[in-house]
Amino acid sequence: MDFSRSTFPPDFLFAAATSSYQIEGHGFGGAGPTHWDTFAATPGNVVRAEHGQIACDHYNRWEEDLDLMQAMGLDAYRFSTSWARVLPEGRGTVNQKGLDFYDRLVDGMLARDLKPMATLYHWELPAALADLGGWRNPDIAHWLADFATIVMERIGDRVFSAAPINEPWCVAWLSHFMGLQAPGLRDIRATAHAMHHVLTAHGRCIQAMRAIGMNNLGAVCNFEYVQAATDTPEASEAARRYEAIYNRFFVGGLFQGAYPDEVLEGLGPHMPKGWENDFDLIGQKLDWFGVNYYTCKRIAADSGPWPSLREVEGPLPKTQIGWEIKPEGLEHILTWLQQNYTGALPLYVTENGMANADDTTTPDDARMDYLDAHLAASQRAIAVGVPLAGYTFWSLMDNYEWSLGYEKRFGLVHVDFDTLQRTPKASYHAIARALAR
Ligand code: NOJ
Repeated sequence: MDFSRSTFPPDFLFAAATSSYQIEGHGFGGAGPTHWDTFAATPGNVVRAEHGQIACDHYNRWEEDLDLMQAMGLDAYRFSTSWARVLPEGRGTVNQKGLDFYDRLVDGMLARDLKPMATLYHWELPAALADLGGWRNPDIAHWLADFATIVMERIGDRVFSAAPINEPWCVAWLSHFMGLQAPGLRDIRATAHAMHHVLTAHGRCIQAMRAIGMNNLGAVCNFEYVQAATDTPEASEAARRYEAIYNRFFVGGLFQGAYPDEVLEGLGPHMPKGWENDFDLIGQKLDWFGVNYYTCKRIAADSGPWPSLREVEGPLPKTQIGWEIKPEGLEHILTWLQQNYTGALPLYVTENGMANADDTTTPDDARMDYLDAHLAASQRAIAVGVPLAGYTFWSLMDNYEWSLGYEKRFGLVHVDFDTLQRTPKASYHAIARALAR
């Protein structure tokens, strides 16, 4: 690969990311059922109805996985904590084995000089809370904050950083409007409530973590580079609506105390009562902001109700999932965020990577090119003054890619899902060389 540690600022952090449901194996250690188990067990939702009961068996193989990161020369590991592993019913009785697991894991990171970057919620809502309406219920803000307190009273003294929720857009829009992730709803009122509650829950968690003396707290959102598919006013308005929903809604709430008009046009009548009064809670002071970036979208106008748009396939080379590869989009998003929302706040790329076909027998050149191009885009953002403090590879290893099952492989390490054997790919070795001091 072309990049090397020495061409980044001296304190720049290189990390890899995973998430609990995608790797741990939810069938182990007394974890309670989650809405992802339910979603996966419902025909038609997930490729081959695959689920996370075993996944990468990280619950039992975590030491090997941490060793792999240490040997790669990484500075940090972005992981998530499973709510249902710690609180099988979402509230009430604590599964001590679950807390012990994260305790061991954090100590294991520190023993290997990996900074623990924790995310509290990466999508597997306890089924008992889904029964109560999940993200539609305003009480979720308190439920999540209570979970945050329980987990962080145990590991908060040793984590390097913490964020409440991974990718609010996926939690709210993808899961309640598009129906493509658990709970698989397609309902505008549920969407409006989830879009707002994901931010009130974020705010309450930040308060709860500050209350027990934690610092270095942030948020992690996903962004796409959005373009109009054609040169018409209709397409450019549709692209603006898409971009407002995807890129501007959550940072609007977090940093500007307002939601974009283009989103309120559609969601306004369906918002939960009193939403206008929650921006003090939502806009808790943050210490950093995380950007997950993968691709670009081309948007055209469509008939039908708001948001009256559709995605159009573009001409750029694509990943195994069919996502167009657009590295300049990352540079654009980072500079746009800094200029309009985050200012001097340190930014991290908290996820970036590509899915590629099973590549045990062929070198994974496409992945190395993808990563090099996005690392170069990160450097260009730094060169124009973006305070970018780190970059995170998605993902350490092949894992459960949600509704796409185990076939889409994002890992720097190959996982054989029959034997669970880990095999570092060419990209892993190239990164290890680039990071060597
Ligand atoms: C975003 C999510 O945080 C992660 O769970 C997912 O696997 C990757 N993107 C790739 O789609």
